[in-house]
Amino acid sequence: MNPDAPNTRPKSYHVKSFGCQMNAYDGTRMAELLEADGLTAAASAEEADLVVLNTCHIREKAAEKVYSDIGRLTKNARKNDRAKPMIAVAGCVAQAEGAEIGVRAPAVDIVVGPQAYHNLPDLVAKAASGIRALDTDMPAASKFDALPKRRKQGPAAFLTVQEGCDKFCTYCVVPYTRGAEISRPWGQIVDEAKALVDAGAREITLLGQNVNAWSDDSGRGLHDLIEALATIPALARIRYTTSHPNDMADGLIAAHRDIPKLMPFLHLPVQAGSDRILKAMNRSHDAAGYLKLIERVRVARPDIAISGDFIVGFPGETDADFEATLDIVRAVDHAQAFSFKYSPRPGTPAATMGDQVAIEVMDERLQRLQALLNEQQSRFNAATVGKRCEVLIERDGKLPGQRIGKSPWLQSVIVENGPAIGELVTVDIVSAGPNSLVGTIVAARAAA
Ligand code: SAH
Ligand code: SF4
Ligand code: F3S
Repeated sequence: MNPDAPNTRPKSYHVKSFGCQMNAYDGTRMAELLEADGLTAAASAEEADLVVLNTCHIREKAAEKVYSDIGRLTKNARKNDRAKPMIAVAGCVAQAEGAEIGVRAPAVDIVVGPQAYHNLPDLVAKAASGIRALDTDMPAASKFDALPKRRKQGPAAFLTVQEGCDKFCTYCVVPYTRGAEISRPWGQIVDEAKALVDAGAREITLLGQNVNAWSDDSGRGLHDLIEALATIPALARIRYTTSHPNDMADGLIAAHRDIPKLMPFLHLPVQAGSDRILKAMNRSHDAAGYLKLIERVRVARPDIAISGDFIVGFPGETDADFEATLDIVRAVDHAQAFSFKYSPRPGTPAATMGDQVAIEVMDERLQRLQALLNEQQSRFNAATVGKRCEVLIERDGKLPGQRIGKSPWLQSVIVENGPAIGELVTVDIVSAGPNSLVGTIVAARAAA
């Protein structure tokens, strides 16, 4: 029994997701599941009877966040003279730490892993009877079969098509928290895409830890799937993320040339520029091969925006290795990119490698790398000034009448004169800052 447990069924819920887009997708699916079970969305975590913390384990800082959140939730409840909400820890920390979470944070009522969250309603019922509920199984049957219908959507939706990772980069927890690579079946994906479009989506981003490894029994690949989804009339845009360089098939590169609905943006992390470090990371590609790949993608789609992820301070990284990372960054020329200090993760091979890099060295390298990436991003944004492009309006801006949408190259574009959310408008880009563009509307394409 959990002495801290609430003993009534929760009526309202709040889901808070950390980490990657797949967690955001899972968070939405959990909300749909709880609503199908009769709960309603609370205005905030503080007002909810059930709070789901959908966690990320990728770096230490991300993983530790959940414990401060649990502390805050219990303290707030006490301060406001309310019963502690039922607390569920979901996501990758749940998978990695399992029952340990309840030992460290007794206020937790439910621990549920990323492959088991379709069981959330049962776990909530169990927790309501005062028993701490744990489910970190990775069942053979897919959770997707057990999830309810998609509900109303914003214009840009996520759709998980592939999950898990077999690559085992030596620094990374994902193969352990998400399990082995699986591809969802073709028909299930097409049905979900249609349901999302019916529910208001005009853009779908296909998600996977290695999304370009998606395949099915009849030998079809991600580009076949994109081609099929492009025939859904009211779907205007398709994106996909995250890709691995080794799974970048010829057909997918050609799709960037041949399928107009496939947006000119590619997130293709290389992580580092030194072949020695890439090898120690078990990345199974080298810097030259990566550059050749980028060149082929650019031949297929000359205006494509390239994005990536970088890690500085991997064990054994020397000044020369780091210079090689700056070199590859210069050679690629990014539209945007993410960069991180290496964080040793329990259970991964790199965590016990010798030659861990000092934190001050990592700080200094990260600063230099980010300065270079920011400069590239500003330059890429500035180069869109004077271009005419379509913008999918996603949300309100700060000022009355202002709206914010996305360019084909995934830049945020601010426009005036309030087009409706979900509209696809033609815009002339008139100015650019480091993080967004300003556009003036030319003409609206009829909403489907
Ligand atoms: N499957 C994707 C993304 C994985 S996680 C891929 O392979 O690209 C997102 C990013 O987090 C990674 O690309 C990597 O740059 C970073 N990352 C992963 N583990 C890390 C660690 N231990 N320390 C710092 N950054 C890490
Ligand atoms: Fe992690 Fe590497 Fe798999 Fe990406 S490819 S999820 S970095 S192990
Ligand atoms: Fe984090 Fe898990 Fe995504 S560790 S980055 S939430 S796959």
